Amino acid sequence: MKKVLVAGSTGYLGRYVVQELKNRGYWVRALVRNPEKINKPGPYFAPSLEHLADEYFIGDATKPETIAAACDGVEVVFSSLGMIKPDFVHSNFDVDYQANMNLLNLALKVKVSKFIYVSVFDAHRMMNIPNIQAHEKFVRELKASKIESTIIRPTGYYSEIGQFVARALRGFTLMVGDGYQRSNPIHGADLAKVCVDAIEGTAKEVEAGGPEVFTYCEMVDLAAEIAQNPPFVLSLPFWLADGLVAVTGIFNRDVHDVALFATTVSRIDTIAPLYGTHRLRDFFMQCKTLPH
Ligand SMILES: NC(=O)c1ccc[n+]([C@@H]2O[C@H](COP(=O)([O-])OP(=O)(O)OC[C@H]3O[C@@H](n4cnc5c(N)ncnc54)[C@H](OP(=O)(O)O)[C@@H]3O)[C@@H](O)[C@H]2O)c1
Repeated sequence: MKKVLVAGSTGYLGRYVVQELKNRGYWVRALVRNPEKINKPGPYFAPSLEHLADEYFIGDATKPETIAAACDGVEVVFSSLGMIKPDFVHSNFDVDYQANMNLLNLALKVKVSKFIYVSVFDAHRMMNIPNIQAHEKFVRELKASKIESTIIRPTGYYSEIGQFVARALRGFTLMVGDGYQRSNPIHGADLAKVCVDAIEGTAKEVEAGGPEVFTYCEMVDLAAEIAQNPPFVLSLPFWLADGLVAVTGIFNRDVHDVALFATTVSRIDTIAPLYGTHRLRDFFMQCKTLPH
């Protein structure tokens, strides 16, 4: 039975990865920085970690002295540890890059045999965004290191798209550009299967998206149909959105970076190889039951 350390275990994807590893008989140590998160469910129906992991290691990967023994005795490190929205304390480089470097250094020290890391699909087309730069700086270090690795490159998660239903219920949605760009977002449970497959697989990189491709407009329409409330859609032309992003940068770098991500992905199709079975319609139906 292989032993796996899961970093990012309290996040949307990490919780499903812990669950999938346990379903397949792995021994799992979950790295957790806030123990209060263990017995609570995660965002958008991601499972509670309570009674799921074999061991909980309490530590913060941004502080190497708190995770010194986190990799002891494990054969595989999986990391979906990353900062998807600003916490106004750390930069993307502190988390996506440095915290993962702290884990990699430990993994190398105790001779872990494989490191699986979650970056982003089509990162090379988004290198203007600090979050992507931080991910890819780590990817370069991981590939250059003496450890076998797999980089998982997913499209957007259902946890990001779930907000569409809340917005439809509130009657207001903001759209950047014309909304005709296409993507295949993926459910955490489907992506977790891809991540766990990578442990036994030999692929160096795996690109993964969900089973259905939508335009942004189609996702807004589907959310409206399920909410039974067609929202008012405010469409920002790119020239205006870009101007607002630039102005935001004068006042707050963290908010600027999130807005830059939104305007960048609104310009391009991001369609990865299709995986999984979870349909967006069913997920949106579930989202409708959330308190809004
Ligand atoms: N969400 C998407 O649509 C998407 C798409 C493609 C790729 N990705 C990448 O996939 C990864 C996982 O995404 P996710 O949606 O599962 O993220 P998430 O739900 O926000 O989970 C992030 C994990 O990283 C930990 N973390 C965040 N900031 C930290 C900090 N300062 N110090 C220590 N730990 C910290 C969190 O711990 P706490 O619970 O303690 O905060 C959590 O366990 C990220 O690297 C993201 O960039 C995401």
